[in-house]
Amino acid sequence: MPLFNKGHLHGPKGRLALLGKDLRDRSVLLALNFVITVDGPESKSTRRQPGHRAFTGAHESNQVEINICCVHLALTGNGVGRRLPNTKTPWPRASFYAPWVMPDIIQDFTFASDNTAGMAPEALAALTTANAGHAPSYGKDEWTRRALELVTGLFETDCEVFFIFNGTAANAVALSALCQSYHRIFCHEYSHVDVDECGAPELFTGGAKIIPLAAPDCKLTPTLVERAVLKRTDVHHPKAGALSLTQSTEWGTVYSPAEIRALCATAKQHGLTVQMDGARFANAVAATGVPPADLTWRAGVDVLCLGGTKNGMNTTEAVVFFNRELARDFAYRVKQSGQLASKQRFASAQWVGMLESGAWLRHAAHANAMARRLAAALRPLPGVKFIAEPAANGVFVELPAATVEVLWAQGWHFHRFIGNHGYRLMCSWATPADTVDRFVAALRAALPQS
Ligand SMILES: Cc1ncc(COP(=O)(O)O)c(C=O)c1O
Repeated sequence: MPLFNKGHLHGPKGRLALLGKDLRDRSVLLALNFVITVDGPESKSTRRQPGHRAFTGAHESNQVEINICCVHLALTGNGVGRRLPNTKTPWPRASFYAPWVMPDIIQDFTFASDNTAGMAPEALAALTTANAGHAPSYGKDEWTRRALELVTGLFETDCEVFFIFNGTAANAVALSALCQSYHRIFCHEYSHVDVDECGAPELFTGGAKIIPLAAPDCKLTPTLVERAVLKRTDVHHPKAGALSLTQSTEWGTVYSPAEIRALCATAKQHGLTVQMDGARFANAVAATGVPPADLTWRAGVDVLCLGGTKNGMNTTEAVVFFNRELARDFAYRVKQSGQLASKQRFASAQWVGMLESGAWLRHAAHANAMARRLAAALRPLPGVKFIAEPAANGVFVELPAATVEVLWAQGWHFHRFIGNHGYRLMCSWATPADTVDRFVAALRAALPQS
């Protein structure tokens, strides 16, 4: 615990104190996490310590608020060198060096990802209910039976469903059922399977080659896929094996049913199976208003990795095989890859809680609505450039570097995602509207003044 949350350093008349603590003792300073406010007309002077990041913002007439990791604070003015009232000790004349650990700024992870939120209440409540008593293990329990029934009902077809701990494993193990080691897997160049899974699809397929394709808006097109497939068809090159689509995409865009149908038709024409990374599938359903079946098997998707985590659950995704032939022996892959939960009911219960109540779609719609609110507020701001038109729960914008520095220093967390200036702002089921508004206000204030 920091000793102080906020300090006021009163310079001119010698009241150099921080919530009553004597600032002359450097050892006290070393223990602090705080923001210093230097006020008084003659007392403010801050200097960056070379090699350290220091941010100075929130200027009022004679206030300097310093959010810093490390700052050299030089005191000037009448207060320096004078005595504290009731003490004989003079203030140090020299400036002092205060390597504070971190400022006491509120760290806000709202927009860093859609997995920074907690669990949705419906999933948490189901988890608690499932905690009572004893139940059969390894998916032989009643919760799992009900969860499978609900997923099947959601897709209006007799599909095979397996629960997996996370999205990387879902994609990688699913692709291993679709591809041999000598296959090629086509995906977008920003796809999670290519850039964010540490080679897991390559490992689990035993060496299938991922072929990333560049396309606008993070969306593949039939022409691109066909061109990539036909680039080489000889035995010296890996055989075209699978197409991996992400819905909604890594840039917050969404494929329409017609686009998926066209892509799947091309894939089938060339003998490819189609896997869909649906870590944010719920957001795509909420965005399009289209039945889940139309975005998947009716359009030609063979297997969907249906996201639970980003939808408000904890450590659970579902692999849904519409092409049941491909699910043959998949249970063994799940077990072999360490993905079979012995206490399966805790994953299954969350699905039951979310699907039975309709929360999965409600929460996804909320996340999308927050992204729309954010986008609408950012759109008129000079210096903010949209990278893609937001359709789901992410907003992707280019921002001036100086603005980003200010926001980061203020404690807003979000990631650079595309190129040097492209940032990802994610919304989730738990994003409050007023946090969106506060972020926009902070961003607006941090834009360079023209
Ligand atoms: C498009 C996409 N797919 C899959 C995942 C799942 O990743 P994880 O393995 O972290 O659950 C993510 C997470 O960021 C994602 O963005």
